[in-house]
Amino acid sequence: MADAAIRVQGARKVYSMLGKPKREAVSDVSITVEPGTIHGLLGPNGAGKTTTLKMLLGLVRPSAGTFEVLGADSTHPSGRRSLGFLPEQPYFPVHLTARQAMRFYGSLAGVDAQGVREQTPKLLARVGLADAERTELSKFSRGMLQRLGIAQALLGDPVVVILDEPASGLDPVGQRDVRSLMLDLRAAGVTVLLSSHQLSEVEAVCDRVTILNRGVVAAEGDINVLLNVDGQSSVRASGMMSLPPRIAELAENVAVPGGVWVFSIPTQATRRVVDTIDEAGGTIIAVAPKRESLEDYFAALLASSDGEAPS
Ligand SMILES: Nc1ncnc2c1ncn2[C@@H]1O[C@H](COP(=O)(O)OP(=O)(O)OP(=O)(O)O)[C@@H](O)[C@H]1O
Ligand SMILES: [Mg+2]
Repeated sequence: MADAAIRVQGARKVYSMLGKPKREAVSDVSITVEPGTIHGLLGPNGAGKTTTLKMLLGLVRPSAGTFEVLGADSTHPSGRRSLGFLPEQPYFPVHLTARQAMRFYGSLAGVDAQGVREQTPKLLARVGLADAERTELSKFSRGMLQRLGIAQALLGDPVVVILDEPASGLDPVGQRDVRSLMLDLRAAGVTVLLSSHQLSEVEAVCDRVTILNRGVVAAEGDINVLLNVDGQSSVRASGMMSLPPRIAELAENVAVPGGVWVFSIPTQATRRVVDTIDEAGGTIIAVAPKRESLEDYFAALLASSDGEAPS
């Protein structure tokens, strides 16, 4: 489709290191992000997420591939005008106050001084730093710095925002704030590309995900579909001394923590299992599609030597 917000095709990066063997950080990565969506870029440490984003932003010279934001070549500065970016390790001018730092970031991003002045109080308030406008960054906590990093990514009202690990260093409230900020951005029509390790963050906000492993795309699609264990549902039920035989013969991974029966069944047997629990005088607490955790998914990816998605 010609109207993707972000399109990476055939990205490759070989880092050359003096006196050491070259390292292929990204072998072959393609990503298409539809406009107005939140797209997750996932993968274990070293998978190539940051390198891919840096190539997209013109911060690292690609060995191969094409990189487009809103149809323009984003490796050239002119193709990055509508872009906001939170780096994995942002630079913080620690001797400046938050307000001065925003002016500094604004000048780097080419936002006019008047625009920066107008936007700064709103953006700092949006990331929970309204009271810290005049505080020097050397007095900021790790989480406050991260919030400032997010605020600077939104200077100039970008149409596309790229966030490399935005929840890094944030407490649970901060993480929730970042999630709702991303949802607000999407509601305003902004496209968000988010690199993250956090399943909860990704599940809560992402429309689609691309999972990288060892420099290639291991899987792409809807996170709920990717992590769903085919045809299995998990059941929680209470009020039974033992599992009725009709269920026992189907159930797997049976556990009874605190008197609650927890087990998985083939999804197609759900009705029969629910009826049997009713007949046995038990109470259904929950029936849900069984899903793999992202951690397990990553572990399986790493275990497969060819780096293909686990089946
Ligand atoms: N400047 C560099 N020079 C040489 N190798 C590098 C450089 N930057 C990254 N690498 C290597 O490239 C690979 C991919 O790194 P990258 O930072 O892109 O991964 P990542 O998916 O962002 O990981 P993380 O989840 O830890 O942030 C790693 O093996 C890393 O050691
Ligand atoms: Mg990274």
